[in-house]
Formats: sequence, structure tokens, C-alpha cells
Amino acid sequence: MAILAVCGVKGGCGATTVAASLALLWQRQQRPVLAMDLCRQNMLRLHFGMAREEGDGWRGRLDAGADWMRAAWEVGNHHLMLVPHGRVGLDSGQAGPEDHWLREELALLETRAGQRTVLDLPAIGVAERRQGLNAASHALVALSAEPAVCALLDMTEAELAASGLRPERVLFVINQFNPLRRLDNDAEAMLREALGPRLAPLPIHRDEAVREAFASQQPLFDYAPESQAADDLRQLAAWLSVRLDAGGHVS
Ligand SMILES: Nc1ncnc2c1ncn2[C@@H]1O[C@H](COP(=O)(O)OP(=O)(O)O)[C@@H](O)[C@H]1O
Ligand SMILES: [Mg+2]
Repeated sequence: MAILAVCGVKGGCGATTVAASLALLWQRQQRPVLAMDLCRQNMLRLHFGMAREEGDGWRGRLDAGADWMRAAWEVGNHHLMLVPHGRVGLDSGQAGPEDHWLREELALLETRAGQRTVLDLPAIGVAERRQGLNAASHALVALSAEPAVCALLDMTEAELAASGLRPERVLFVINQFNPLRRLDNDAEAMLREALGPRLAPLPIHRDEAVREAFASQQPLFDYAPESQAADDLRQLAAWLSVRLDAGGHVS
């Protein structure tokens, strides 16, 4: 089973938005998807219309010694299960489960044919990020087209290599791309040179429809199905599908 960890090279690159979009697109292709939020911000669920005041999630259940999978919600139809992180107090400890907990738990779950698991990872340095990378068969790193990201790339590559992911299973996408800005174009060219075929061929454009869809609590693909970003995300989902199904042998 493909387990895709979606993370940003830094905060705000769009990891949560991309993770939610991929889960939704694959669900709509009738593919069984498990989407799990590993971020304390507990934002992934808001992309699926979950009520803001709902605080249930895997972390609280685990801390209470209960079955964490019971925090899973069925979204839309039986193809998508969402596991929110859940609300945790600011004073609750950072310790969390040991580093390979999630990998072992996911291996124990009953999976359906063709299932994909999408993990929404927090920023570098947070324990749950390591947890997610240790469990993943593949990673997708969201980048923004700016000089700072080019500088952060080495650190991210080293982090992912340390988690045992082979380079060909670490894929990248540029998000919030604005073709009218010269620096965005320069950064894209540099990233393409550095990453070659591991970088998705098309960036996801900066598109106001993404924020509007989130604000109106609707999937982008319903709110603005013809938008540039919706199109870019559909292309990304198709590009990734080929790579996830091949298990890392496509370049
Ligand atoms: N392609 C895009 N165009 C416009 N806004 C975007 C795009 N992708 C993400 N955003 C916005 O950027 C912000 C950060 O996105 P988010 O997915 O939460 O990032 P991360 O999880 O990496 O911190 C959100 O307000 C989101 O709506
Ligand atoms: Mg996020």
C-alpha cells in the first residue's frame, strides 16, 4: 500500500491544502483513501467540512489509552476515511508515541485493494513529522518558488534521506506559483535543475480560488472546478498516481 507523506520545506507552502486535495481527488476516482492529520494545528479536517468545534482525534484517544482509529470519520462515501489529529491543550506534552509507532500501526490496519494513505505532516523538527516519514513509502514535498526554498532544499533532502526514503521516492511540487513574478520563474528553473524528474512537471499556481474555497468550506473541485489551481492539482494527482503505482521505478 502506498503511504504518501505530504510535507512542506517550510510552513505555509501548502502541504495541508495539497494533502487534502489529493485525498479528495483519489476518493472521487473511487480509490480507497485514508487521510491522517499529524499536525497539532488540526487543520486537515476543515478541508473536509468537519465542524470547527469538533475536537476528537487520534492523539487524544491514544493519550487516553483508547483505540486511535476510532477517531476516523467517513467522508462523503465509504472511499475516504479521515483521521483528524484532534484538539490538544497547549500544555499537553510533546513526547507522543515512540518514533515507529505509526508505521507499526498502519501495517496492522486492514487495507482495501488499491488503498492510498495520505499523511499531512507538520514542520521540520516536530516529532510527528519524523513519525510520518518513518511510516511513509513515498514523500511529496511542497515548495514555494522563492530563493529561501532553494536554500532549504539540502536540509530537507538530508532529513528525508535520514528517514530511510530512497531519493526516487521523494517527489516535489512547487505551489503558489505566480508566472508574472520574475523571481518565481528563476526559482522554478533552479529547482527544476536541482530536482530533475522528481519535480512535478507543472507547478500549482497561486490562485485566489484556493483560499475562497477554504473560506466557504467547500472542496476547490466543487467551488471552482475550472480554476487554474483545480486543474493543476488534478494534473499533480495523475502524475503522482503513476509514481505511487510503480513503487518508485518511474523517472
Ligand atoms: N495554490 C494556492 N493559491 C493560493 N493560496 C494557497 C495555495 N495553496 C495554499 N494556499 C493558502 O496558503 C495558506 C497555507 O496553506 P497550508 O496548506 O495551510 O500550508 P502548510 O500546511 O504547508 O502550512 C492557506 O491559507 C492556503 O489556503
Ligand atoms: Mg499544514
